[in-house]
Formats: sequence, structure tokens, C-alpha cells
Amino acid sequence: MAADRAVDTRVRVGSVELAHAVMTAAGTSGHGAELARYCDLSGLGAVVVKSLSVMPWPGNPAPRLHPLPDGMINSVGLQGPGVAGWFDEFFPELVTSRCRVVISLWGRSLDEYRQAALAVADGLRRAGRAADGVVAVEVNLSCPNLEGRRGIFAHDAELSAAVIDASVAAMSGATRPVWAKLSPNTDRLVEIAGAVRGAGAEAVTLVNTVLGLVLDPETGRAVLGNGGGGVSGRIIHPVAQRAVFDVASAHPDLPIVGVGGVSSAAEAVALLQAGASAVQVGTATFADPRAPATVARDLVTWAAAHGITRLSDLTGVAHRGGIHPLPPAQG
Ligand SMILES: Cc1cc2nc3c(=O)[nH]c(=O)nc-3n(C[C@H](O)[C@H](O)[C@H](O)COP(=O)(O)O)c2cc1C
Repeated sequence: MAADRAVDTRVRVGSVELAHAVMTAAGTSGHGAELARYCDLSGLGAVVVKSLSVMPWPGNPAPRLHPLPDGMINSVGLQGPGVAGWFDEFFPELVTSRCRVVISLWGRSLDEYRQAALAVADGLRRAGRAADGVVAVEVNLSCPNLEGRRGIFAHDAELSAAVIDASVAAMSGATRPVWAKLSPNTDRLVEIAGAVRGAGAEAVTLVNTVLGLVLDPETGRAVLGNGGGGVSGRIIHPVAQRAVFDVASAHPDLPIVGVGGVSSAAEAVALLQAGASAVQVGTATFADPRAPATVARDLVTWAAAHGITRLSDLTGVAHRGGIHPLPPAQG
């Protein structure tokens, strides 16, 4: 235990200093402080709330979740109260829990993203000092562009850059950095990461879910009400490792938040080694709501056992030859 206390858990994601490298992932810990009854949210790096749109949104038809070996497929469809409703209904409880908060937003057109970001900036202004714990805004780019019918925003460098540019402009004055959350369902991830950075994203969050479909062999129909969905959990962890590694190789100065299949310290370590400055825990929370706190605790134990005194030293180890300091001598 004494060794654990010797590990400095603080990390930086761009201009944001977090007390710990482990946070929750958008959409997997509710709209607010739902996890507070299972763990001390203030001990996590941050709570990333479910993506919010400018208007309340009903989401997709049920069933919305389906378990898979080592993960799940979902088509929740971003159900939510809208930014203003969220500030009224869910934000106060997060303030009470004294955690750092990342607000995630989404839209179906460039203008909806802009409006959502303006609404967030307005909510932060109204909240005043109560919003001090809100450290960043994460823009979820894995949404279809209904207006232009040009596919998913996150699969197009130009569109992604336009959304980030609009979000950064809308947030100006609100003094919170914008992170761009990208999709793994493209072979242009490295280029898209460069484009959002050029448009003002201070960090990228890698990755959102992997496109999938599960049919029920008895009916020949999709198990999810919306047809296809997004695959998440341990099953996608190698996809997340690859995404983080490739983007870190191409953009060594771009801060990365790694997400995808982190359910134990081992996966958190791997994403940090691949180049992430911090990690998020998503699907693992459905099996065990204490998962983010458990991963946070076990990561520190792992670091102490490996003679690592700062979690931030793990970032990018794989790009530096993959060697850790030797573990301390026993006995
Ligand atoms: C049920 C569910 C809902 C999600 N909702 C969101 C969301 O609102 N916004 C978002 O950016 N990502 C959302 N995600 C994606 C996760 O934040 C995460 O990027 C992805 O699941 C990979 O991490 P994991 O394997 O740890 O779950 C959701 C994932 C799941 C499983």
C-alpha cells in the first residue's frame, strides 16, 4: 500500500490536468452522477457524460443492447435530455459529487453541433463557479450527417474539421478545450486526427464503437431494434490499441485519450503505452459499476509493482522501445 502511495497519478491531456489517468467513457455511466453510489467519482480523472444534443432526443427503438462474448453491441441512439435539460436535471448532482466532468456533445448537422456547443457554453456561463469542475468538451463525431447525406462525420476529414472548427468557435469565451472523439471505422484515422487538430481540437479520444450486426439465427432478424449497432468491450481492445498507436506515431505531440475494451489495469497500461495520456472505461461498467474505480486502483498497484513512480511515464512506452524501469528489488 505504501508503494501505491508513491505513485503520482496525475496526468495532463493538453492543457487539462487530471488527478488520475482513468476516467469513464461517454454513454456508459449515465447522464450524471449515477455511479456515485458505487464509487468515489472524485477519485477518477473525470466523468465523461453521455453525449448531448441541442434538443432532447428519444434514441433508437428497443432492444438497444445485446451481450456478446467479451463485449456487447448497442444501438442506444444517443437518447438524452438535450444540453439545457441536462444542465437543469443532471448537472447539480455532478457538482455535488465534486468530480471533474467532460461534457460530450453530438449533432446531425454542422449547425446542430454548433448549436449544441453554444448551449454548453451558455450553460457553463449560467452555472458560474459551480461549473469549475467541467474541464473539457468532447465532441462525438461518430454521427451521421443527415443534412448533407455525406455519411458519418468522423469518416471524413473535411467534415470532422468543420465540426471541430465550429465547436471551438462556439466555445470561445467558455475557456474549455475541445476534444474530438473519433471512429475506428475508417482507414483514414491518422489523417482525420491531423485534420481535427488543425481545426483546434486540443486532444483526440480514440475510439468509439466498431460497426457491427448480430442476427438471431432463429428469426434471421437483427437482435437490435435499429438493425446494426456499435460493438464495444474487450473484444475491440486490439482495435483501440492500434488506433492509439498509429495516431501517436503520426502525431506525437497530439494528446490522446484511449478508450476501447479497458476492463482491467492491463488494458489501461496497454493504451497508455500505445500513446494515450489517459484512458476511459466504458462497457466494463455495465458488468460492474465499480469498474472505473477498480481499474484506477489496480493501475496504481501495477505501476508500483513495476517501479513506475508517475502514471504519465507510461505514455508512449511502446514508441520508445517498450522498456519499463526494473521492478524494485524484493525483500
Ligand atoms: C451503451 C453505450 C452507449 C454509448 N454512448 C456513447 C455516447 O453517448 N457518446 C460517445 O461518444 N460514445 C458512446 N459510446 C461509446 C463509448 O464511449 C466507447 O467509446 C466505446 O464503447 C469503446 O469503449 P469500451 O469498449 O470501454 O466500451 C457508448 C457505448 C456504449 C456501449
